Amino acid sequence: MNIVVLAAGMGKRMRSDLPKVLHRLAGRSLLAHVLDTSRTLSPDRIVVIHGHGGEQVQAALGAPDLAWARQEPQLGTGHAVMQALPHLDDAVPTLILYGDVPLTRADTLRRLVEAAGTERLGLLTVDLEQPDGYGRIVRGITKDGDRPSDDGRGPVLRIVEHKDADAAVRAIREVNTGIMVVPTLLLRRWLGALSNDNAQREYYLTDVVAMAVAEGVPVAAVQPRAEWETLGVNSPAQLAALERVFQRNLADDLLEAGVSLADPARIDVRGTLVAGRDCRIDVNCVFEGTVVLGDRVQIGANCVLRDATLGAGTELLPMCHVDGAVVGADARIGPFARLRPGANLGDDTHVGNFVEIKNTRLGDHSKANHLAYVGDAIVGQRVNIGAGTITCNYDGANKHVTVIEDDAFIGSDTQLVAPVTVGRGATLGAGTTLVRDAPAGQLTVSRARQASIPGWKRPVKIPKTPKE
Ligand code: UD1
Ligand code: CA
Repeated sequence: MNIVVLAAGMGKRMRSDLPKVLHRLAGRSLLAHVLDTSRTLSPDRIVVIHGHGGEQVQAALGAPDLAWARQEPQLGTGHAVMQALPHLDDAVPTLILYGDVPLTRADTLRRLVEAAGTERLGLLTVDLEQPDGYGRIVRGITKDGDRPSDDGRGPVLRIVEHKDADAAVRAIREVNTGIMVVPTLLLRRWLGALSNDNAQREYYLTDVVAMAVAEGVPVAAVQPRAEWETLGVNSPAQLAALERVFQRNLADDLLEAGVSLADPARIDVRGTLVAGRDCRIDVNCVFEGTVVLGDRVQIGANCVLRDATLGAGTELLPMCHVDGAVVGADARIGPFARLRPGANLGDDTHVGNFVEIKNTRLGDHSKANHLAYVGDAIVGQRVNIGAGTITCNYDGANKHVTVIEDDAFIGSDTQLVAPVTVGRGATLGAGTTLVRDAPAGQLTVSRARQASIPGWKRPVKIPKTPKE
């Protein structure tokens, strides 16, 4: 099939400088969701109709499998589809989607396309409690006699836009979602015959339905399984509502897969979360990019993870920020730990509160439990990094590497001025400022010798002389 995605509308009600279809749902633009779903249908081509902010949309989403057609000015949905005609293959039907309707399931679209086949017009319709503003589906008896339709409601005769409808038509609750599939040769002919003689002076795509009926082309109406599949985004409030729908669906999928969620209403996945068996996730965690959790991983409350991999049995205590990091098995991270890009932690590592680790390999069984900055370092196994340790990796111009070999012990409040190496089994006394390599197996201390001064007196406060 051909797919045409309408994305030229300006989205005035978003009150935003960003084109509407570039607003994000679950971390991806609305249009990206529609294109993803489109691609799962393996169409012959996808044509995106752009208008407002078109260059920006193209720059954000351009891909070799997309054709772009500009609609300027915007004279209605029928006029929008006309712009796609030069790109369409007449041998296959054309599915029309909206760039601001992000959550339609591929399965629903497949049912619609199957119901239409190559000779029928297919319409996705839905019954709404509040149909105001939508085009209404008028059913009844065709000139060929009363052919009952698939759903037993009587065949579709035409679509009447809300603004053109009288009270009787406005009482109809079955509405046009806007999504339809049309035999392409017929679409070409019907679009050529559209007029804008209506309340909005627009070329309505919906008028092709009455044209089909007049020619005896059957119209198949298909309903989605859920109403939210057809909801569009016209305002920030609608975007927020669809975000919640998306996240709730995703949470249900995780629960279904065996993941324990403290509260399925308080998890946000803006990307891909892959979890092993028996994982537990506490409230208010955000997952971005690709996050992979091994078996039995536990994530405490209020953690943010982005492009991260945590090994089996690892526990992330509350309030951690993990970005571009890999952690081995059975590690204990946090609370309040920050793992930055390039952090690579081995098995059974411990990283505690207010510890920041960047571009560093921390070997198996090594620990940095309190208040430390470890950056651009290669740390061996069974190393203990004391509280307040800092790798001084930056000289103001360049970054340098700190090497800490296996079984070293770094005393508290130590500064390692890189490039520097701490040998295997070395001990650094607390408060050391290390500027040269520390030999293996020895104690290195750089602080001044402790002295006590007998008879020393604290300064005494001098009383102020009162003013006259
Ligand atoms: C349209 C349908 C209506 C349906 C409703 C569902 C028509 C005439 N009406 O109404 O039956 O119930 O959608 O939401 O088709 N667009 C363009 N170029 C244009 C006009 C629109 O690209 O010139 C795009 C918009 O960006 C949007 C989509 O088409 O993605 C629908 O446009 P919108 O103005 O929301 O259509 P409605 O008038 O609400
Ligand atoms: Ca609309």
